[in-house]
Amino acid sequence: MPTERVATVVGDLVDRVNDAIAKHEVTYDEYHAAMSYLIRLGEAGEWPLFLDVFFEHTVERLNQGEGGTIEGPYYVPGAPWLERPYVMPMREDEKGDSLILSGTVRATDGEPIPGAVLDMWQADADTNYSNIQEEPPPFNLRGKMTTDENGEFEVRTIVPPYYHLPRGGPMEELLNAAGWHDYRPGHLHFIVSADGYTPLTTQLYFEGDRYLDSDVASAVKPELILTLQKHDSPEEMEARGMKKPFFTTSHEFRLKPQTG
Ligand code: DHB
Ligand code: FE
Repeated sequence: MPTERVATVVGDLVDRVNDAIAKHEVTYDEYHAAMSYLIRLGEAGEWPLFLDVFFEHTVERLNQGEGGTIEGPYYVPGAPWLERPYVMPMREDEKGDSLILSGTVRATDGEPIPGAVLDMWQADADTNYSNIQEEPPPFNLRGKMTTDENGEFEVRTIVPPYYHLPRGGPMEELLNAAGWHDYRPGHLHFIVSADGYTPLTTQLYFEGDRYLDSDVASAVKPELILTLQKHDSPEEMEARGMKKPFFTTSHEFRLKPQTG
């Protein structure tokens, strides 16, 4: 990075931290507690969690804007390519309500994009991410799929219930110490990409979730909140080959053509 840029941004950051220290008359005890905290945060490997919770949303709004939101710390490359009809990799007895998400990937001018790639990941019903937390098998609820010739896709998964950040480490300690909760609304993560377009990183949320208005990661946008339709009649279940009631919803992703 150019020296001038580093000096400008880091200089401003340092000034602002010093302003806060002065404004609140931070004591030596507090200064040392903060230092020891930041060291433990690093030792626990929670810097990505901390930074994404407090700061990624601002970077995201500047660089993606409408239709996008933060990636968060738990994307893992190399998720399996799924086969149609798409079903997210899951355990036989995967907890949670069944969800069929359908949708279209379009260019910003409305043209559907065939062959767009959706790289999708989510937590399980117990708020655990595969390849991050121990319990789910590798790549559980992570998968890649493509849109068909009409730019459409459909995938079966589970409705992710509202979510809390991993507990037991320095991040939880800080949130507790400040009296803040550690919840995010339930969400599905995506990176949507296609040749000639800027990849879109985003998440989808669900109407009625109790944490839509107080996401600890400040990453909810109104255009990303979906309405779930419940299907519980025997006819509907039969028609979809589902053994229990299920939900459906849909979303349109919009990709910006790449410039230059
Ligand atoms: C964060 C984002 C997530 O989507 C998640 O599941 C956990 C943490 C974050 O912003 O740090
Ligand atoms: Fe997440």
